[in-house]
Amino acid sequence: MQKHTQLKKAVFPVAGLGTRFLPATKAQPKEMLPVVDKPLIQYAVEEAYSAGIRHMIFVTGRNKRAIEDHFDTAYELENELEVAKKLKLLEVLRSVQPKDLHFSYVRQARSLGLGHAVLCAEHLVGDEPFAVLLADDLMVGPPGGLSVLGQMAEQFNVLGESILAVQEVPAEQTQRYGIVAGETVRDGLIKVSAMVEKPAPEVAPSRMAVAGRYILTPGVFDQLRHQNKGAGGEIQLTDGIAGLMQHQGVYAFQYQGKRYDCGSKEGFLEATVELALNHHEVGGYFRNYLENLQIGWSGKERRVNKLTPVVYQD
Ligand code: UTP
Repeated sequence: MQKHTQLKKAVFPVAGLGTRFLPATKAQPKEMLPVVDKPLIQYAVEEAYSAGIRHMIFVTGRNKRAIEDHFDTAYELENELEVAKKLKLLEVLRSVQPKDLHFSYVRQARSLGLGHAVLCAEHLVGDEPFAVLLADDLMVGPPGGLSVLGQMAEQFNVLGESILAVQEVPAEQTQRYGIVAGETVRDGLIKVSAMVEKPAPEVAPSRMAVAGRYILTPGVFDQLRHQNKGAGGEIQLTDGIAGLMQHQGVYAFQYQGKRYDCGSKEGFLEATVELALNHHEVGGYFRNYLENLQIGWSGKERRVNKLTPVVYQD
């Protein structure tokens, strides 16, 4: 674990509506959807912890109470497990909330955009650099290596300026991401001179796409505060960073590891399959299950073993 980071605080904007996951997200936050046995938000908090950060700031909204409860002490449950001598489970439960971890919560009353959500945390962040983690991007570092935010914190300790996580995407996918361009400082590090939100492949300045991890200097708050609505009528974080770039250096860092876009069903399924295959408890079973799975394609219908889910019918 990396301990000597200058970063102390992480902001988790979790006030989005999660419409791509309805109806699952009708009454629960998408950040609480589990990949195997852990909610998405816990993967992100553990990543921040591994980068040496101990103060976690959540920007929440309606229907997000479950996130607060998840990181709170569950006295009754702990007591039950203690009495039943289920000590392993007790350990799992307590590991969610290490003693040196602090949580703060602030509400974003309306979903006015990611930039606006980050601005809501200004009074809790204060005048210091901070990380932003979008929990629906589940990031897995290389085996035995630093987490993605850990790698970025290491870069930040040297550069002292804002850093965005980027990955190269196929040309046909530039329209889904913020795309950066600039001067390559060294392998895997670009000094950003342009940022474009969701460009068509023919006008994209590069194929370097921003993933949901940022380390930002507090100057970004000034930009966000005075900023007009951008794409989709929302206060965009990308626009705030583009403004910051006029005054300070902003770097794009090509991290080692893999990103799963768990805000989309496809990415969520990929994460579930790949993390399940590597899971210490169920990995062996699941690999065997997949190897023996008979996938029965019947004409144009894509049905596994011809099982059909139950749905309400008139
Ligand atoms: P998304 O673009 O994924 O939006 O937000 P969403 O509302 O969560 O999901 P869909 O598209 O409706 O399915 C990216 C991140 O920014 C946060 C979200 O919680 C997510 O982590 N966000 C977005 C806010 O906190 N507030 C906002 O106003 C918008």
